[in-house]
Amino acid sequence: MSLFGKDFICTEDWELEDIQKILVLASEMKKDPHNLRWSSVLKNKSFLMLFYNPSLRTHLSFDMAVSELGGHSIYRSSEMSWSKSKQGIASSEALKDMARVMSRYVDGVGIRMCMNAIKQYGEGHQFVRDFAHFADIPVIGMADDRVHPCQALADVMGWSEKISSENDINALKGKTLLVTWGSSGLARPWAAVQSHLLLAARMGMNIKLAYPEGYALDSEVRQQTKIHCEKNNTTYEEIHDPNVGYEDTHVVYVRNWVTNKAYEQGEFQYQAEVDRSLSLKEWIVTEAKMRKTENAIFANPMPIDRGREAEEAVIDSAYSVIYDVAENRKHAQKALLALIFGA
Ligand code: CP
Repeated sequence: MSLFGKDFICTEDWELEDIQKILVLASEMKKDPHNLRWSSVLKNKSFLMLFYNPSLRTHLSFDMAVSELGGHSIYRSSEMSWSKSKQGIASSEALKDMARVMSRYVDGVGIRMCMNAIKQYGEGHQFVRDFAHFADIPVIGMADDRVHPCQALADVMGWSEKISSENDINALKGKTLLVTWGSSGLARPWAAVQSHLLLAARMGMNIKLAYPEGYALDSEVRQQTKIHCEKNNTTYEEIHDPNVGYEDTHVVYVRNWVTNKAYEQGEFQYQAEVDRSLSLKEWIVTEAKMRKTENAIFANPMPIDRGREAEEAVIDSAYSVIYDVAENRKHAQKALLALIFGA
């Protein structure tokens, strides 16, 4: 089936075989970034990036992806992305008007909306979905409050590369992933961790999800992850002890995320989240914990909080894949852009 014109908002919207097409093409592009087969597939095409929250990796990796495909990218910060208002969704220009006008200017749109750009959990994801509903062009989620699908692509690509020297997309089948909450002063949204839980389970990994009391993720996402595990005959386990779960694990993924009360008062409780998170210092990935694993690789979507989410020695170790995954953002997004709106 042609992927041309398709939105990429959540990996769950896509067939697994189509996601695998992105990963296969991404690997080819990584080996030969400037091959003439793809160096001008976005010629005369423009990609608009609406960032309602800051970004380093997502912004630059999309910028470079579009550039290496011969297209033109346009960056709009939060201040520039609300039309006629800085007050957020409730008092902005109607979303349908924004989406319809943008569709007349550009060939694709990426949107980031999470953290303090929203007042309650789910609002950012709904904004991206509603934008896509009214737009006539492909819409890509660049991290909302619920999912971060491009990060999940880069994650599984990076883990597969390390686990299989053949760069086999089936390399993760039957392997075990420990996703552990990490202490941090950064108060991260649920998006990245939820996206890779969904995709890793779907790709056949056993899942262990470790987090302190009060940090349960979206119940629908956890339920869907369990369903994927059941379908694949793999295991799903939840753990509430920072020292448990490392045994028999092939990928250790640490990520800070906020509590399920982060939006309870009608706006994002940044400082309360940071204060609580910093009090849970035992939730750190250490070299001693990594030694309990099956020579696991260490992963994190970045930015990483050094000395809090993981020890410096773990982050800088030979088994750390954090920079490979960050690099893969560009390759995976190049493949995605080429497939959904390339010539
Ligand atoms: N991992 C990620 O999305 O990083 P940025 O917030 O810097 O884009």
